Amino acid sequence: MDLPSGRVLVTGALGQIGTELVEALRQKHGYDAVIATDIRKAEGCQILDVMDKNEVKKLVIGEQVTEIYHLAALLSATGEKNPKLCWDINVTGLENVIAAAKENKARIFSPSSIAVFGPDCPKIAPQKTPLNPTTVYGKTKVVGEQLAVNSGIDMRGLRYPGLISYKAPAGGGTTDYAVEIFHSALENGHYECFVREDTKLPMMYMDDAIRATIELMSFPVEKLSESRGGYNISGCSFTAGELVRSIQRHLPDFTCTFKPDIRQKYADSWPEEIEDTTAVNEWGWNPKFNLDRIVDEMIANLGK
Ligand SMILES: NC(=O)c1ccc[n+]([C@@H]2O[C@H](COP(=O)([O-])OP(=O)(O)OC[C@H]3O[C@@H](n4cnc5c(N)ncnc54)[C@H](O)[C@@H]3O)[C@@H](O)[C@H]2O)c1
Repeated sequence: MDLPSGRVLVTGALGQIGTELVEALRQKHGYDAVIATDIRKAEGCQILDVMDKNEVKKLVIGEQVTEIYHLAALLSATGEKNPKLCWDINVTGLENVIAAAKENKARIFSPSSIAVFGPDCPKIAPQKTPLNPTTVYGKTKVVGEQLAVNSGIDMRGLRYPGLISYKAPAGGGTTDYAVEIFHSALENGHYECFVREDTKLPMMYMDDAIRATIELMSFPVEKLSESRGGYNISGCSFTAGELVRSIQRHLPDFTCTFKPDIRQKYADSWPEEIEDTTAVNEWGWNPKFNLDRIVDEMIANLGK
């Protein structure tokens, strides 16, 4: 077992990523070394509201936390319905975590997102390009990346694409259709998709995302460039129609209709693909799951 010098704190631990990251970190460091927290209550997870600056500080100092995975956030679709709350949780919450980390010299992992890109970004998004997101959610992620390199501590992030997983529901993002579709396909044989059939977005299987997170955090900070605020990492890119056809390999009677809603607008403002040579060259990023392999895994696990 790889024991960290202090304890590991995860905020937003009950979400889509936290559910799996906590499991992986507990396997790596031991159950008690990892403190899972969320604003919601559940077994094995304690309550921590990241908006409560004093409580965050008390926990980090009191529990000798030296590594923080800060996952508490509002995602794009939920965030755009309540932009003020999105800004508060995503920016003020992060500032509270940074302030606490400084007290105990803790390192932080804070995810960014492909939502940092705006309509002026090329369809294949480079690592370095002007970041002009149209959503408040995207703007909070740009601020997060800037804080990562300007706050004087060891803080890193990944620009996660849409994440596909079966252990926890997706948390109110624009790419949620790529998770919901599997549940509907298996339960009802039909899905009404909220983006157009030709909508192509960067996606990633959760196993790849968790591995990327742990690999990035295992790397010496001196060897990382300023891109550490938010590395582009690519998994695979596919259209909603291609996803349907891949599912039909397993469920030939599955049907899907397409009824775009407001989330189409957010999807249209994002790139179709991610160019990730910086992550590949700096810390050896290497994705393992393509579309068909993701679909095989999702159907096998949800079908159990
Ligand atoms: N899932 C994706 O596809 C994806 C893609 C890109 C980036 N990200 C980023 O990864 C991070 C985690 O995303 P996720 O998909 O697990 O999100 P999620 O919505 O599934 O989980 C977020 C968790 O944060 C908790 N939370 C909300 N407000 C809180 C508060 N004030 N204090 C403490 N906890 C609070 C929620 O209860 C929830 O369990 C976020 O920063 C998100 O922007 C996710």
